[in-house]
Amino acid sequence: MCGIVGYIGEKQAKPILNEGLLRLEYRGYDSAGIATIEKDGIKNIKNKGRVNALFEVNGIDALQGTVGIAHTRWATHGKPCSVNSHPHMDNSKTFAVVHNGIIENYADLRDFLKSRHYEFFSETDTEVIPNLIHYYYNHSDNTTSSTSEKKFLQAVTDACKMLKGSYAIAVLCSDYPDNMIVVRQDSPLVIGKGNKENYISSDIPAILPFTKEFYFLNDKEFALLTKESIMFYDENLQTIQKKIHTITWDSGSVEKDGYPDFMLKEIFEQPKSVKATIGNKFQKSKTMIGDLNLSKAYLSSINKIFIVACGTAMHAGLAGKNLLENLCQIPSEVDVASEFRYRDPIINNQTLCIFISQSGETADTIAALKLAKAKGSKTIAISNVIGSSITREADYTIYTYAGPEIAVASTKAYTSQITLLAILAIYFAEILEIHQDKIEELKTDIQLLPKKIETILKNTSQIENFAKKIHKEKDIFFIGRGIDETVALEGSLKLKEISYIHSEAYPSGELKHGPIALVENGITVVSIMTNRLLLEKSISNVQEVVTRGAKTFIITNQDMNYDFDEVIMIPKTNTLISPILSVIPLQLLAYYIAKEKNLDVDKPRNLAKSVTVE
Ligand code: AGP
Ligand code: GLU
Repeated sequence: MCGIVGYIGEKQAKPILNEGLLRLEYRGYDSAGIATIEKDGIKNIKNKGRVNALFEVNGIDALQGTVGIAHTRWATHGKPCSVNSHPHMDNSKTFAVVHNGIIENYADLRDFLKSRHYEFFSETDTEVIPNLIHYYYNHSDNTTSSTSEKKFLQAVTDACKMLKGSYAIAVLCSDYPDNMIVVRQDSPLVIGKGNKENYISSDIPAILPFTKEFYFLNDKEFALLTKESIMFYDENLQTIQKKIHTITWDSGSVEKDGYPDFMLKEIFEQPKSVKATIGNKFQKSKTMIGDLNLSKAYLSSINKIFIVACGTAMHAGLAGKNLLENLCQIPSEVDVASEFRYRDPIINNQTLCIFISQSGETADTIAALKLAKAKGSKTIAISNVIGSSITREADYTIYTYAGPEIAVASTKAYTSQITLLAILAIYFAEILEIHQDKIEELKTDIQLLPKKIETILKNTSQIENFAKKIHKEKDIFFIGRGIDETVALEGSLKLKEISYIHSEAYPSGELKHGPIALVENGITVVSIMTNRLLLEKSISNVQEVVTRGAKTFIITNQDMNYDFDEVIMIPKTNTLISPILSVIPLQLLAYYIAKEKNLDVDKPRNLAKSVTVE
């Protein structure tokens, strides 16, 4: 959600910032802006709308500076418009700031600054930041030499001590044209190291074409950048040493590779991403997952597992619950992160909490993790992004290896998350020494998944044709029993997100308790049926809607001899991991419907790739 990119070096900043902003577009935004340090001070240009529109604004060609910051805004305070766009400057035009996040106490800070004769021009919470920095720059009993860039740093740290809320901030100061300062608190920010040039960004892919060497800031850590150096400080200006990380993704892996959209590319990458997530975790003697090292005594003491996440990651968690309960016999509960925090969950040291987040930056999930930790639970994060915020908060982190997921609608992250949850459940069961036979069979089934996904992806025309038939519909139902209901939820979410068709997902047996009143002639009902034991009952539920005139789209791995409108056959696998296969036709159905409607599948309206505000 929103994006920040910055450059300090010897080249012109503008083209680099332009490319960075375009690569941050997938996160979702409503306006964009750029500020560079020019010979006669900071120049700041911003505009509502797309990044391409920003680079057509009058005056942008004049930006020649080699130090600059840029921003894509996803409005939280104040409507999307040019004035509210970032960068924001202080009244004296000495400081320019880009900000991701929310300053919760901005109203108090604004009143404080107004009482000191500062004026405000935007409706944003952000505008207090450059003015507060200016205030401390001029007013604090700053003992640091006025010629040293430490004066700039001191003013930024002083101002940040006053901020409540979440922020990733990059600051320029016209008095120190060779410096840039960045800081973060609960919002993402990475620093890329180059040769006589350095970069900052909200995420790695945005600056991956320029560098592979990254530093990850922790909360309340400040970095002072020049083209040649990066110094790290805590809020008391004590220097900190930080480790550099080399990123092995190539920048090609975040481009479209000949696919028309990132979403389709990512759907087709699933054999690879599931395979990479399995990696070599199934060792001969035991299953190993990264540095995870839990003892039998600890796992035996656990009487409850909470799986907490948002959206698609939460749907993966529902499959995880089934796996953990079935293989490990530990009662497990799935919670939506934004609810978990406020319902006073019963957590103690006999509870294990697992948090799933593709981006690792989802504010609700991170806040839920902090709560669980504070209540004494061990925490495991499942993330796809190395070094992301969640991984720095959790006791243990285990990674999916899906590679960068760019399309807002999550696809390959979901199947990788369930794969990893299945491996995690196996890892627990091995330690607890239960269900050994079942586990060996499941391991074989997991390893066969990539090939089976390939089989499904070989024949997409049937789904594409059905999408053409139903793309004008207003409501679609998704139904399933047991594990299939969790996939129905995910299929329904995918459809809503990218095709803007209203849809509902229900347990098949629940339909007749109310929602069936909405089933009328011609409506489409998508039914997932992958469990042989529940097949007859599920078929009866489909018959109930057929009788009322519904069109049916069935996804199954069971032979059936009924005259349904469309039946998509998928390979058989263990029911516990069947969502990894049955979701794929649903991802494709949503995709082809959205394409038929001529919609932007990668950047659906109102949505952001990672939701870094609560
Ligand atoms: C998925 O298609 C969504 N865009 C969304 O539900 C997403 O899964 C959710 O916001 C969680 O994101 P995370 O995995 O990065 O935490
Ligand atoms: N709260 C700030 C604003 O509304 C920043 C939003 C963002 O993260 O883009 O301008």
